[in-house]
Amino acid sequence: MKIAMFSTKGYDRRSFERVNQKYGHELTFFEARLTPNTAPLAVGYEAVCVFVNDDVNREAIIKLAAGGTRIIATRSAGYNQIDLEAAEAQDLCVVRVPAYSPNAVSEFTVGLMLTLGRQIHRAYNRVRDTNFELEGLQGFELHEKTVAVFGTGKIGTMVIKNLSGFGCRILAYDLYRNPEVEKLAEYIDDPIEIIKQADILTFHMPLTPETYHIINQETMPHLKDGVFIINTSRGALLDTKAVIEGLKSGKIGYLAIDVYEVESDLFFRDLSNEIVTDDVFARLLTFPNVLVTGHQAFLTDRALHNIADTTLNNITQFEQNCECANTITMDKVRGQ
Ligand code: NAI
Repeated sequence: MKIAMFSTKGYDRRSFERVNQKYGHELTFFEARLTPNTAPLAVGYEAVCVFVNDDVNREAIIKLAAGGTRIIATRSAGYNQIDLEAAEAQDLCVVRVPAYSPNAVSEFTVGLMLTLGRQIHRAYNRVRDTNFELEGLQGFELHEKTVAVFGTGKIGTMVIKNLSGFGCRILAYDLYRNPEVEKLAEYIDDPIEIIKQADILTFHMPLTPETYHIINQETMPHLKDGVFIINTSRGALLDTKAVIEGLKSGKIGYLAIDVYEVESDLFFRDLSNEIVTDDVFARLLTFPNVLVTGHQAFLTDRALHNIADTTLNNITQFEQNCECANTITMDKVRGQ
């Protein structure tokens, strides 16, 4: 099948070309994000492959359908960037990669905790400058800390397994209880109660209308003073402006994020010679107790291989009219 690949980088190209030797699709790589303006690039391509910051809205979808596209394959687990209703209205199939390596994101999450908690990133810079002063590098230990894990799906469960090795007390919050998690963590059904008890909060739930700004101005007073917040899921789980107020007042002691509410104009690009016009984001970068990475938690060799393999297999199944378990429909989203 002819596949128009949007938002691609060198690492995407290398992994997809390698894995495609098995599938034999015809791949065209575009660096551009998919938006209504760039959708005409896909004219004549039956399949379109997108990533987390493509703007697959109604307008883009109508243009894709008019150009002959029949399937949208996102090479991510999350699919909040795709207007599913519009896709169904245009009879476009939507497929995703539900799991490519929960370990990749889980290990990165723990890495953020250790890096920021022990000031490793600042120590690295100091030593490069032959500054061996330790003042300001005091950290804390994960051992016996209470960690609240929001979302105990594939990634959250791995985080819980990883953290249990550090001797943390682990609290869990999810709509559903996972028996595997119950052996290692205590579920608490009230998000405010869990927030009150936790030294560290880590987020692993999808972005939905229910999870949007789950940490906001109203929840802020319930947080423990000096709490450590980590978000490797989707930026809009946190109300960034409220978080900045929390950082200014000292309510939030540490913030590590791999995702940001309006990251699509920033992440995955080199902006080092440009002026960042997002003042909220720029403010975040001024805090010494904030660590930001540019949506890289997924980026491991194993994950890239699995993403390419599942995506190309999804498209092959569609081409062969097979039932694809990774299809996303409105019914599935509604739980029907
Ligand atoms: P998953 O679908 O296995 O788990 C999500 C969990 O969240 C489920 O257990 C679900 O019941 C729970 N959940 C959903 N809505 C909820 C609500 N309103 N209240 C409480 N719990 C709720 O997903 P997985 O694979 O663990 O991924 C989690 C998220 O991580 C993805 O949605 C994606 O946004 C993000 N992600 C980030 C990556 C990165 O590179 N930073 C890479 C991969 C995923």
